[in-house]
Amino acid sequence: MKETVLVIGASGQIGTELVMRLREIYGDSHVIASDIKDAAEVVMQSGPFENLDAMDGSRLTEIVKQYKVTQVYLLAAMLSATAEQHRDFAWKLNMESLFHVLNLAKDGIIKKVYWPSSIAVFGPTTPRQNTPQFTVMEPDTVYGISKQAGERWCEYYNKKFNVDVRSIRYPGLIGWKAAPGGGTTDYAVHIYHEALKHGKYESFLGPETTLPMMYMPDAIRATVDLMETASENVKIRSSYNVAGFSFNPEDIAAEVKKHIPEFEISYAPDYRQQIANSWPQSIDDSHARSDWGWAHQYDLADMTNDMLLNLRKQLQVS
Ligand code: SER
Repeated sequence: MKETVLVIGASGQIGTELVMRLREIYGDSHVIASDIKDAAEVVMQSGPFENLDAMDGSRLTEIVKQYKVTQVYLLAAMLSATAEQHRDFAWKLNMESLFHVLNLAKDGIIKKVYWPSSIAVFGPTTPRQNTPQFTVMEPDTVYGISKQAGERWCEYYNKKFNVDVRSIRYPGLIGWKAAPGGGTTDYAVHIYHEALKHGKYESFLGPETTLPMMYMPDAIRATVDLMETASENVKIRSSYNVAGFSFNPEDIAAEVKKHIPEFEISYAPDYRQQIANSWPQSIDDSHARSDWGWAHQYDLADMTNDMLLNLRKQLQVS
């Protein structure tokens, strides 16, 4: 049977790129993009788009039945920084949307679910270096609590109801095709834009705030590889640790300076510093590597080359 995929949150940072990759794999008309706001032009023009509020279970069911959807990628969520400002809404959005999708799979209406988790599931009591797959998890952000609860529910639905749900704990994601929104790691995207436009950047995280990060092409490949692998390879049904590389604002600034020598960074840490301080600095992703063959490709230097090359064209700066 031909697969038909629904992406919820198709206008976001990951959704914009993931929809286009899935359309290459499954065909344009078999990947339905959905969001509460219009997606990027390229997404809107290349295949179906439906307006969908991820908390609206009946509209979701209607779309799934209309298109005979077999797989759902649920990307809609409120991220770490914004969730601290809108606690009740963040919890409602992040949890209700997940239950709607898991229940569609439990009822046999869809076959497979992708749901992203995050390094935010870890907290101040977690070992911060080479954080293991299985370890202490006491997140102290609204977003982290919602992702950890979500992970437990994913595993529960897999064990009790045989739901084929798959998940990755993304590190901070950096890409040039779409803007990030409301995350603690967003500085690592903003810095490139500001360096090209103004030659300087004021970081909302301090110079030595090391966090695990990944370039978007690697994140998209990880996501698709996990979803494509045979079900028996997916031994972890909560969420997989997956790592790229780690850096802090000082490191990325030094890398940017190699391309833009006059670039200057300054620091004005705000409430996001505390969130970052509670997260790991590096991640052990050996389970993803051995279970389904994960291997990252980009490091900080490769990513910086590619980001600046593409953003120069997109922003039309020399
Ligand atoms: N990048 C996300 C954030 O900063 C973490 O999942 O919220």
